[in-house]
Amino acid sequence: MKHTKVKELLNSAQTMQEVYVKGWVRTFRNNQFIALNDGSTINNIQCVVDFENTPADTLKRITTGAAVALKGALTESKGAGQKYEIQVTSLEILGDSDPEKFPMQPKKHSLEFLRENAHLRVRTNAFGAIMRVRSVLSFAVHQYFQEKGFVYVNTPVITGADAEGAGEMFQVTSLPLDNLPKNEEGNIDYKKDFFGKHTNLTVSGQLEGEAFAMALGQIYTFGPTFRAENSNTSRHLAEFWMIEPEVAFNDLHDNMDLAEDFIQYVIKYTVEKCGDDLKFLEQRLLEEEKSKPQAERSELALLEKLNFVLENNFKRVSYTEAIDILKNSTPNKKKKFNYIIEEWGADLQSEHERYLVEKHFKSPVIVYDYPANIKSFYMRMNEDGKTVGAMDILFPGIGEIVGGSQREERLDVLLEKMKVIGIDEEELWWYLDTRRFGSAVHSGFGLGFERLVLFVTGMTNIRDVIPFPRTPGNAEF
Ligand code: 4AD
Ligand code: MG
Repeated sequence: MKHTKVKELLNSAQTMQEVYVKGWVRTFRNNQFIALNDGSTINNIQCVVDFENTPADTLKRITTGAAVALKGALTESKGAGQKYEIQVTSLEILGDSDPEKFPMQPKKHSLEFLRENAHLRVRTNAFGAIMRVRSVLSFAVHQYFQEKGFVYVNTPVITGADAEGAGEMFQVTSLPLDNLPKNEEGNIDYKKDFFGKHTNLTVSGQLEGEAFAMALGQIYTFGPTFRAENSNTSRHLAEFWMIEPEVAFNDLHDNMDLAEDFIQYVIKYTVEKCGDDLKFLEQRLLEEEKSKPQAERSELALLEKLNFVLENNFKRVSYTEAIDILKNSTPNKKKKFNYIIEEWGADLQSEHERYLVEKHFKSPVIVYDYPANIKSFYMRMNEDGKTVGAMDILFPGIGEIVGGSQREERLDVLLEKMKVIGIDEEELWWYLDTRRFGSAVHSGFGLGFERLVLFVTGMTNIRDVIPFPRTPGNAEF
């Protein structure tokens, strides 16, 4: 007999003579009531054990965390909050769980403790919900682009290119670290390395994505990216997943339209599909915020916040306008910012981004046309000769969720820029070929997937929305 998922049973149209389920015991009350969860839904199914006819040593083994298989009748439940329960007729312990040792006790654990037990935290309601929401969000990403005819491209994880020019990369090598081969100049001889050159884990699939967009028209990537930046913040991971669409013939404004439409689509899809999980996460957030002072609590409950994003256009403001707003803001005048905005050209720190979004506009914001010298080499120079066609999307509670731009399609302008910055032409010969042969206006952006999951789940630390987080000093599991 094949077992049935708890979700299916709870959604059943009628009672049933005999059902078979497998799952893990969440709690066992009064030697009688098992709350059983199998991961298919946040909801447990109550299984009523006939304790008088069950051997005592079996009852003793029904403990939190144990894996069990059981058969019984699906009947209407008299208990509150549940439609059905199972009257157990036979029960088998598949895997014991010593209640003295099982770390996931049926009580509230701190997020820090759960992070140290990332292999088991997924057995809690909150992490089960987060991981199901994450899964549905990633499906929505594919559905959105596939419906629009974008081609999914798998860009390389190991690459010789530094797409962002930020230099914060993990090197990939098979050279013996205690005995590095040297060339005649006394430098490390990467010709002897596995790939015959210096390589690293990719920080972004954009450059390869551009090459594909210049043939397939509209593409997207969705894969892991790596950054060795030593930022121990609640918004940074060393390994994170990025979605990077790239579209031929799109200019910066088309790019903003695409990003906004895309984000609204995936959130809408997830709100529709993950009602139970999101309701649970909304409640979790309310509970968590009870201990915070009023001023630090969210103004909107989780689902209200998500609906706000769906129902309102993102505010669009140029960098120059944003700087004016910030310069004249109270925290700037009262020197409350850690970085005081003195003049045009300053890079926006996350405190400034959050002021714009949370205090000034009270809405997601797209900031565009940034000063050229604080942005990457591939962004298109504007007519003013000072700004580039860049855009960042800033979200409440998150800060930057998207970074993108119109790309510099003019070979001469791009070459000049690379020369000034000191990027080797030879290294990027293939990238420059896209400008040599059939170059055209094109644009794209990168969305940090975990930052999106943070926003949708209402979690506040990025380590809690990826199964096994990699951060400075931590690569357990
Ligand atoms: O702004 P970034 O660095 O842009 C790029 O990588 C471009 N190549 C994208 C493109 O135009 N195709 O990164 C894009 C997004 C950020 O907005 C942020 O959401 C996320 O990636 N991100 C991180 N997320 C988690 N941990 C980190 N260390 C991140 N760094 C960037
Ligand atoms: Mg960025």
